Amino acid sequence: MSESATGQQATALRGPVLTYTGDAFLKGLESTMRYEPDAIVAMADGKITQFGPAAAVLPQLPPDTPVREFGQDRLILPGFIDCHVHYPQTQIIGTYGKQLIDWLHRHALVAEQQFADKEHAREVARVFLKECLRAGTTSASVYCTVHPQSVDAFFEEAEALHMRMIAGKVLMDRNAPEALTDTSQQGYDESKALIAQWHGKGRLLYCVTPRFAPTSTPEQMEMAGALWAEHPGTYLQSHVSENQGELAWVKELYAERKGYLDTYDHYKQLGPRAIYGHGVWLTEDELRRCSETGTAIAHCPTSNAFLGSGLFHLENAKRPDRPVRVGLATDLGAGTSFSILQTLNEAYKAAQLNGNPLTAGHAFYLATRGTAQALYLEDRIGSIAPGMEADVIVLDLKSTPIIEYRMRYCKDLEEALFIQMTLGDDRAVLATYVAGRLAYSRPEQTCA
Ligand code: GUN
Ligand code: ZN
Repeated sequence: MSESATGQQATALRGPVLTYTGDAFLKGLESTMRYEPDAIVAMADGKITQFGPAAAVLPQLPPDTPVREFGQDRLILPGFIDCHVHYPQTQIIGTYGKQLIDWLHRHALVAEQQFADKEHAREVARVFLKECLRAGTTSASVYCTVHPQSVDAFFEEAEALHMRMIAGKVLMDRNAPEALTDTSQQGYDESKALIAQWHGKGRLLYCVTPRFAPTSTPEQMEMAGALWAEHPGTYLQSHVSENQGELAWVKELYAERKGYLDTYDHYKQLGPRAIYGHGVWLTEDELRRCSETGTAIAHCPTSNAFLGSGLFHLENAKRPDRPVRVGLATDLGAGTSFSILQTLNEAYKAAQLNGNPLTAGHAFYLATRGTAQALYLEDRIGSIAPGMEADVIVLDLKSTPIIEYRMRYCKDLEEALFIQMTLGDDRAVLATYVAGRLAYSRPEQTCA
């Protein structure tokens, strides 16, 4: 068998491959979408070592490289990336709760109190990560809870799976249950210690995580901006302009600020590697500010529909004269599915209701390289090319009886992709490779 420098056995996949080489929204699909009907993806030491048409690459593979073959009913893709998700809310996915603030206080902030117990956090982290792999999600930007042990448990479990994960301790020093609040100083000290322990360890990255402006005092907001600036390369995540009731609350709490985004701008929380969930109600000026600062918005379509928050205007956010970095996100537990395919289904409907139906080609870009670009990680994850980290998934394009039937009438790749994002879910994920290792394999099924 072919052994590489650090001993991880080289392995290769053969089959149809879809990947992107640039921003499909800004440069168009013609020049950015790459489909190879019969390709080889070779992996070793956690990286992709070779990619190209099988006829050209096969003769160059190291001798004895095992090649796993997938037929024309399969599609090899970069692993999906989830730009904004709350792992502690796994246990409350699908809980009725009117709109955001009611749902948050009645459900999310109750469930999160259990994360004072590290063993509980570990158990939930395991369920969460397993569900991610079943859904073909290989990386995410993740909210933990206010408890540092919730971060330790999450990173320990993600590290064991070799996943590239971004995560951080939630900061909240007001307007939350007492059991979930820290203070400005405590939040700073605990986050700093977690950065020292986890940021850059293996594939893990730290994210300073002020939950949203209403649950932090101006003092904590100031601290969060300073902490982020003190640690170049770390991320910062929060929520912005999700819901009308939230907007009114922010206006009351921060009457002196120009608008919601300005509460973050004022406290130096915008810039590269800042990620804001939702952005449904951002104004033109605010979108321009996101664009000029390199701030990313995480589009959370299942959550926005579930909580009745509104429709994020993807096409407008990506407007070429002031493009905003946009990633795709589940936002569990307000989001209703781990499946990125189902999240694209909902993104399509939101775009449709906005008068700009999303094409499948753009949708698969958004779920892979687009989200990597929003996270400033497109040089490492989100596409298939030599040198990229080997997070790769294999979809079964005929995963259920109705999809199998529908595919008989499918004319081309665009239609095949659209069928997958409309009708497909976790059952379509046949295999998930993380850093070149098989991390999930769908059990045999008899239905199709
Ligand atoms: N805004 C602040 N916290 C949350 C949360 O946990 N979920 C959602 N959807 N919005 C939020
Ligand atoms: Zn959220």
